[in-house]
Amino acid sequence: MARVLSGIQPTGDLHLGNYLGAVRHWAQDQHEADAYFCVVDLHALTVPREPGELRAKTAETALALIAAGLDPAVCTLFVQSQVPEHTQLSWLLECVASMGELRRMTQFKDKAKDSDSARVGLFTYPVLQAADILLYDADRVPVGDEQRQHIELCRDLAIRFNNRYGEVFVVPEATVPKVGARVMDLQEPTNKMSKSSESPRGVILVLDEPEVIERKIKRAVTDPTSQIRFDPEHKPGVSNLLQILAASIGGDPVALADDFTDYASLKAATSDAVIELLRPVRERYLELATDPKGAEDLLTAGAEKAQSVAAATLARAEDAIGLYRPSRQNAASQA
Ligand code: AMP
Ligand code: TRP
Repeated sequence: MARVLSGIQPTGDLHLGNYLGAVRHWAQDQHEADAYFCVVDLHALTVPREPGELRAKTAETALALIAAGLDPAVCTLFVQSQVPEHTQLSWLLECVASMGELRRMTQFKDKAKDSDSARVGLFTYPVLQAADILLYDADRVPVGDEQRQHIELCRDLAIRFNNRYGEVFVVPEATVPKVGARVMDLQEPTNKMSKSSESPRGVILVLDEPEVIERKIKRAVTDPTSQIRFDPEHKPGVSNLLQILAASIGGDPVALADDFTDYASLKAATSDAVIELLRPVRERYLELATDPKGAEDLLTAGAEKAQSVAAATLARAEDAIGLYRPSRQNAASQA
């Protein structure tokens, strides 16, 4: 059975981009593969965080993932920092990665505007991400479009390690959805929808009430010519709405454009579709939030299961790279 792994940062509330680009597909993947999903709290430390808030958001994000359809009885859902093998393997991979290749990461370039004060962790962020993936021998990594470069780096590191030290890692592939892989901000449709957006009006949260979703979509930026066509370069706002509608109902954004003659009806259809898509997630979240202890136990069990896989991979990597582990090496030579 194929292995799947993906992760999400607990830096804010789950938004429509996360859902359409990633989480919705994870809920399907769990039935088709041996699936691992982690809330990557260590990645969230790369920018300033208030400790209490980080802790609370980690729990909330896990709960939102369960509400969005991840079933801890079917997949393995866990918090990254509860499995220390992630940071251990990350160090080994840092000693395989080069400064040059990390400097080329566009996410680092975007976030580390003033590079002298940017945290070192922001620079090595993609190496920790590679460790997340390689520890689980993942064949596939379902992510949104902007993660492609990180997965490419992960592949390069795995291949380099295998060439130098022997076949230790499975070389994974990114899977990116055809529609919905890059949902844009409703107010600034040339920027992607993001947890760190300046304006909350441009971001639809998975837990937004229906009236709030309706209002945000009604006020979404379009453009002065009222022509409806899918053309992200020249008509980013309208194309984003068509993309959101298509991803929500399972259609094609180019073909859907022909169904509308004015922005008001396109917005009404989009808002209806998004409200219906997210309604069950919101209802389930409110139900789950009444028993936070239940989720805590599920996450502890998830981390234990994850660790049993991660520890075996880390041991392979340590042995291959030449770390001194006499008990393991004696056992291997006697076998
Ligand atoms: P993050 O919130 O950055 O941890 O992202 C979690 C997952 O959601 C990753 O697979 C991202 O690629 C995906 N994602 C984040 N923002 C968007 C977006 N605006 N459109 C589509 N996918 C996204
Ligand atoms: N960097 C990813 C993001 O911001 C989150 C992430 C961390 C991840 N580790 C991962 C995604 C492993 C896929 C696999 O979205």
